[in-house]
Amino acid sequence: MKSIVRDMSLAPEGRLKIDWVKEHMPVLNRIREEFELTQPFKGLKVAICLHLEAKTAYLAKVVKAGGADVYIAGSNPLSTQDDVCAALVEDGITVFAKHKPDPDEFKQHLIMALEIEPDLIIDDGGDFTTLLHSERPDLIKNIRGGCEETTTGVIRDKALEKSGDLPFPMIAVNDGYCKHLFDNRYGTGQSVWDSINRTTNLVVAGKTVVVVGYGWCGRGVAMRAKGLGAKVIVTEVDSIKAIEAYMDGFEVMPLVEAAKAGDYFIAVTGNQYVIRREHLEVMKDGAILANAGHFDVEVNKHDLDALSTSRREVRKNIEEYVMEDGRKLYLLAEGRLVNLGAGDGHPAEIMDMTFALQAVSLAYVNEKYKEIGNRMITVPYELDKQVANLKLEALGIGIDSLTDEQKVYLESWKID
Ligand SMILES: NC(=O)c1ccc[n+]([C@@H]2O[C@H](COP(=O)([O-])OP(=O)(O)OC[C@H]3O[C@@H](n4cnc5c(N)ncnc54)[C@H](O)[C@@H]3O)[C@@H](O)[C@H]2O)c1
Repeated sequence: MKSIVRDMSLAPEGRLKIDWVKEHMPVLNRIREEFELTQPFKGLKVAICLHLEAKTAYLAKVVKAGGADVYIAGSNPLSTQDDVCAALVEDGITVFAKHKPDPDEFKQHLIMALEIEPDLIIDDGGDFTTLLHSERPDLIKNIRGGCEETTTGVIRDKALEKSGDLPFPMIAVNDGYCKHLFDNRYGTGQSVWDSINRTTNLVVAGKTVVVVGYGWCGRGVAMRAKGLGAKVIVTEVDSIKAIEAYMDGFEVMPLVEAAKAGDYFIAVTGNQYVIRREHLEVMKDGAILANAGHFDVEVNKHDLDALSTSRREVRKNIEEYVMEDGRKLYLLAEGRLVNLGAGDGHPAEIMDMTFALQAVSLAYVNEKYKEIGNRMITVPYELDKQVANLKLEALGIGIDSLTDEQKVYLESWKID
């Protein structure tokens, strides 16, 4: 099948971006060398749905180096980078993606990536699995299994598993230690602020930042806001996470109270309509709203439309909503995940671990799919350890190991 990209003349720029991240992804480079020798995907078709920027492009190349024919679609209409897509096509990967396609075109690209009838999939947010289940079960037959990248997709796949509808084994890569501990926390923490700062060109120090949701991503976003000099308020629905945020030094209160104080609001819950009418009604003039959760449902855009008298783009990726009382609220990246819609996503060194885990998990599911059955499993611990060991090696950091006596002690109930 022929690739669908915006403009092949952009390939040289895309190639520079991919080469840059490759230099900073030593773990994935090691896995690539191993795959070149062992060819775990020889003769197989792999369909990938991920944010189509440089780090993802390099993962696609590593899977190809493992012997696969690779087909890729974007997982968000704003995060696809046209130059990267063009470079990938030159590298022999079939791409179905454009930056800012219309919603029908976006969905069509996902369908095209599945119409090649893949043997394996890499999914993000459950886009492939839900599409296969609800609209195209005819394309399931060859699929041995796959890997899921993010929290929201794990929730959706587990719901499919619970109802007995998960059609093949999936590995919850998000739940691997080398994924969520670093990607969701340090990756989102840094890249959210990188994208907000480059998009707004405004100061954070001294301002009040409201972080909605204190999960893995929220912890990172709040930590980095504090580092930038902001006063940070956390809102939660989970009492344990709320205490954690409080003991981490943040103010905790209901969002309807925090709404009056915030200069920046960052929703990162994986839930829908967390910022809605009652909050928008009391926000300060000039408040900036962003979402870092997977789908563009965390800020209720219907409420923003209903409460405003006008909407216009005032700067790239900033929409100004003028409220009936004259207040102006600013929404970044159309309420889509801000760090990819208005930035380049997580740093390369973080995605090195995430995508190394993706690569080894994909090889694992290909090897063990018959044993696993139609279930969603967590990343086997030995794969997490493999990636962690390679990362430490790349960082030049040594650690201690247990003595034989200590091993015995740790497995015993006796105290001498
Ligand atoms: N932007 C990125 O690059 C990126 C990276 C990783 C994950 N994600 C996405 O971010 C979202 C969050 O992921 P996570 O790993 O932090 O999940 P998580 O489950 O660790 O945390 C979510 C938190 O939100 C809280 N929450 C839910 N509804 C809420 C509400 N109405 N008000 C306040 N708090 C609420 C939950 O109690 C929980 O503590 C998911 O959609 C995930 O797919 C985005």
